Amino acid sequence: MFKKVPGTRDILPQEVSRWQNIEEISRRVFTIYNYQEIRSPVIEEALLFNRSLGDSTEIVQKQMFLTKSAKSTYALRPEGTASVARSYIENNLNKTQGFVKLYYIGPMFRLERPQKGRLRQFHHLGCEVIGSVEPLTDVEIISLADNLLEAFSIADYQIHLNSLGCSKDKKELARIIHKGLKDKLSKLCADCRRRLKINILRVLDCKNKTCQEVVRKLNIHDEHLCLQCKNNFEKIKEGLDLLKIDYHINPFLVRGLDYYTGTVFEITHKQLGAQDALGAGGRYDNLIKELGGTQAGAIGFAFGIERLLLVSNPKPQTSNPKLVYIIPLGEKARIEGSKLLDNLRKAGIASDTDYEGKSLKGAMRRANDLGAKYVVIIGEDEIKKSVVTLKDMESGEQREVRQNDIVRELQNKSQIPNHKSQTNPNIK
Ligand code: HAM
Repeated sequence: MFKKVPGTRDILPQEVSRWQNIEEISRRVFTIYNYQEIRSPVIEEALLFNRSLGDSTEIVQKQMFLTKSAKSTYALRPEGTASVARSYIENNLNKTQGFVKLYYIGPMFRLERPQKGRLRQFHHLGCEVIGSVEPLTDVEIISLADNLLEAFSIADYQIHLNSLGCSKDKKELARIIHKGLKDKLSKLCADCRRRLKINILRVLDCKNKTCQEVVRKLNIHDEHLCLQCKNNFEKIKEGLDLLKIDYHINPFLVRGLDYYTGTVFEITHKQLGAQDALGAGGRYDNLIKELGGTQAGAIGFAFGIERLLLVSNPKPQTSNPKLVYIIPLGEKARIEGSKLLDNLRKAGIASDTDYEGKSLKGAMRRANDLGAKYVVIIGEDEIKKSVVTLKDMESGEQREVRQNDIVRELQNKSQIPNHKSQTNPNIK
């Protein structure tokens, strides 16, 4: 028997309503903030991620799903920002639209060691604003993340905020870290000793306890920031204060992707355990130019949908709250039933029938399990009288309705606009 690949999940029908709920809420909130959806391919040239995320990042070094063709190496996208940046440049969105606000929902792939909240195929709910360096965009992005969480009814999360500053400031930060750690190499883990040479900022968020003790003693605040970056960071904090958004300044927050400059943030939730980030994001003002576009400031974030679902309360399963279930009893009734089913569906009424030839009792039980609102019974008696028996499953009330009237009656009960049935000549 085949099993799913480790680190992947089947999203079964009973869970799908929770996914749809998250997706619907997101689309509504993104639209309120005037973001438009973008759908980019799941495969990209691997080099796009080497260039964007950085050759020395863990994702590029160890976690990409790669496949080679005669000319190129392709990767299953490990994240969405690089793809959106590529698409922005390739489709000349800078010329046609300039400033863009985009969102995306879709699967991402990282060859990680699976554990709770860490998968090899997971889903991002993310957004990117390209074409602005204005600090108020940072405020909008963080407030959007905050409002999304509120709309998902998720509470008790923490927003951690930092500014890495511009490229020059990042170099200065690297210098400060190097100076502070050069005598303490023996106390650092092997990974951090390697990071010191190739990706020094990552030393700051090493998860190793001993490294953390050493690193937390470093005197790091905002000395690495130039005047402009310091002013921008102040404006962002003021903007968040004005909107009463709670955040914690964390000078050790650096994030694992090289493209970040300026603001970086991470949203954590204690309930998640070791993998505690619900989502994260930040500015990447140099990426578009580095990928061959014109200079364009940009900022975005992504939530991991699986992690959102781990901390949001399961919604009761309301599979199809207005379902009409038809129970035909006998061969003739089966034909009448299938005609009625077709008419109901054409009239926009969610409906289904028993295809298994169940007894009345068995079919009623099935209707009940499905959470049907109404049951329509068609037996020999009903056919003779040109009626059906309509049962309200909530009240238990049962009565006969003329065959010709049943679609209209159910339509009125479901309050479905009946423009379709009026104009659809197929409805008999
Ligand atoms: P990231 O921090 O790598 O950022 O991913 C964002 C979120 O995706 C994480 O906070 C986490 O919730 C979820 N996530 C990441 N890896 C996994 C995994 N293996 N399994 C389950 N969930 C995972 C980015 O990808 C950036 N592109 C975010 C961004 C957008 N920055 C600017 N714009």
